[in-house]
Amino acid sequence: MSDSVRENVRRYYAERARTSSSCCEPVVTSCCEPSVVSCCGPEALYPADLLTGLPEEALLSLGCGNPLVGADLKPGETVLDLGSGGGLDCFLAVRQVGPTGRVIGVDMTPEMVERATTAARQLGLSNVEFRLGYLEDLPVEDESVDVVISNCVINLSPDKPRVFREMFRVLKPGGRVSIADMVSKGPLPQSLRESPEAWNACIGGALEMEEYVHALEEAGFTEVEIRTVNTPPLSTLPEGTVFSALITARKP
Ligand SMILES: C[S@@+](CC[C@H](N)C(=O)[O-])C[C@H]1O[C@@H](n2cnc3c(N)ncnc32)[C@H](O)[C@@H]1O
Repeated sequence: MSDSVRENVRRYYAERARTSSSCCEPVVTSCCEPSVVSCCGPEALYPADLLTGLPEEALLSLGCGNPLVGADLKPGETVLDLGSGGGLDCFLAVRQVGPTGRVIGVDMTPEMVERATTAARQLGLSNVEFRLGYLEDLPVEDESVDVVISNCVINLSPDKPRVFREMFRVLKPGGRVSIADMVSKGPLPQSLRESPEAWNACIGGALEMEEYVHALEEAGFTEVEIRTVNTPPLSTLPEGTVFSALITARKP
């Protein structure tokens, strides 16, 4: 199952890297109504002034939030972006960590890594690099990262506990996590779980909120918090809703 899920996801995102279009996937959707409710794309997810000065090549956004909101990046820090896609969050992060900081993006789709590397070159950035690899087996040294960020990727992994263990391994003690991801409130129907289209659209693989918290804690993280951003308050969302969440945590 896992290899075929990843292969399907890779094929889908290779095409997205080639066609340049930002996503128009659901930000909030209910299982009885799996239609597009709200569009994303960089303008919907980030303040306009953050995007100025970036080349067209860098403006591919397939995310579902802005993970930098919970990251509190400081000059000189090392940031790791899981599933970096076209690199947009890395280009925004490097502005915050400055010339003494460093940003590494990891993605399993060669077309994405190539696209992000080209954009980094256009921007003249020497402290941002993109590595080809899996979230489940990160090509990153132990305890070498201050902050892990990710934007709408972990839901796509067929082995999320392993991704969380890898995040824990590469973070320095005291390191932080800030993830934008699709999360479900309550169970989803099996038909959505098994639909490749729903999986690629970041819905089918969404963890339930409680599972997300539990799996991060199992991996060793503390201070785990999940909140909604730009969506109605959690208490008002019906059961079976997949929503865009901001997840923060810390390695003790
Ligand atoms: C929805 S896109 C998000 C891209 C980027 N974070 C953004 O906000 O535009 C998901 C990305 O994650 C990558 N990806 C999905 N599953 C992965 C895995 N298991 N390991 C590494 N990369 C993965 C895909 O290749 C794709 O580039």
